[in-house]
Amino acid sequence: MHASRRESADGSADGSGDGSGGGSARGSAGGSDALVIGGGIIGLVTAWRAAARGLRTVLADPAPGGGAAQVAAGMLAPVTELHYGEEALLGLGLASAARYPDFAAELAEASGIDIGYRACGTLSVALDADDRLHLRELHALQRRCGLESEWLTGRECRRLEPLLAPGVRGGLRVDGDHQVDPRRLAAALLAACERAGVIIHRARAERLLVTADRAAGALLDDGTRVRAHQVVLAAGSLSGRLAGVPPQAAVPVRPVKGQVLRLTVPPAYAPFLSRTVRAVVRGSHVYLVPRENGELVVGATSEELGWDTTVTAGGVYELLRDAHELVPGITELPLTETRAGLRPGSPDNAPLLGPTELPGLHLATGHYRNGVLLTPLTGDALADLLTTGELPAVARPFSPRRFSAAPQESYA
Ligand code: GLY
Repeated sequence: MHASRRESADGSADGSGDGSGGGSARGSAGGSDALVIGGGIIGLVTAWRAAARGLRTVLADPAPGGGAAQVAAGMLAPVTELHYGEEALLGLGLASAARYPDFAAELAEASGIDIGYRACGTLSVALDADDRLHLRELHALQRRCGLESEWLTGRECRRLEPLLAPGVRGGLRVDGDHQVDPRRLAAALLAACERAGVIIHRARAERLLVTADRAAGALLDDGTRVRAHQVVLAAGSLSGRLAGVPPQAAVPVRPVKGQVLRLTVPPAYAPFLSRTVRAVVRGSHVYLVPRENGELVVGATSEELGWDTTVTAGGVYELLRDAHELVPGITELPLTETRAGLRPGSPDNAPLLGPTELPGLHLATGHYRNGVLLTPLTGDALADLLTTGELPAVARPFSPRRFSAAPQESYA
């Protein structure tokens, strides 16, 4: 049941004749400059960066700081997650990874929260001949792209990570792929938003408001109408569910389920692993991400099952089985959490960043496997767009318009 229609503290009630949404002047009377729909890490970073540039910013989410980041492992892995045909995405990922040290410091200063950025590197290993071939091909691709990655024998891998299984046949050492703690990242971004003056409505955006063929705000499920000159839809896999978005601006995202486990390394077992260890085992990705506080994150399944977020015995079994093949000692550790989240996948699995065909409506979604990695760059790119009307060059290939009838610039 919804509360009766209310006027937003920062905006005027619909139909009040304030002119917001239809006009071109920034910050028209009674409305905000920017409404961000979605309070996961992508929505929060967009709101924080927009507010830091002086925009009166409102964010709507029933549970800000939640979303896929609560499940994600937090790998910053543009090099180890490289795929054929994704060179433009690689450029975006590298650009965002390069921002992380400064971003983490700035966010810690703004929020008082350390986000656990850890420059620990990654080791991608192979267990059988097929995995080894797959890894050799990845290595060749990385080298063609000018990336730093070193081939190691199984023995060299075990010298770096003594708990690796004797069966590991080789691996790639990638010293530039790091990690961050996504839960701390979300908490820090929420605190930074609050300190920067972002007005946070703890309610779900139900319907986009459109005035004179322009996005003009949103109706929230507590009855509030938030008026804004520009709207950023950053609701992760839910971004396609907002009512009122006209067909030409429809958001092509789908949920891709990932099951993730959390274990704890007791102090007596530390250091268990010193860096992220990952592999493709019989075609499935598995990764182990060790945090300094003793948490060990094991992920992740990838399942096209719609909105299902059930943790299944099969999912947990497969992750533990594959992780155990890599690091047999894992079965000694307490299993402290099992959880499933939904990655927002776009048709080409690259993000959707920038203006839609509806003036005033922008997207920051579709980050799929790279939401944590792309957080710093997304915040800066959307803040550029909101303040100047232009996306930075590195983000332009990821315009949502690549999926419209007449694409502007295509990705890949
Ligand atoms: N980037 C890792 C995952 O999505 O599982």
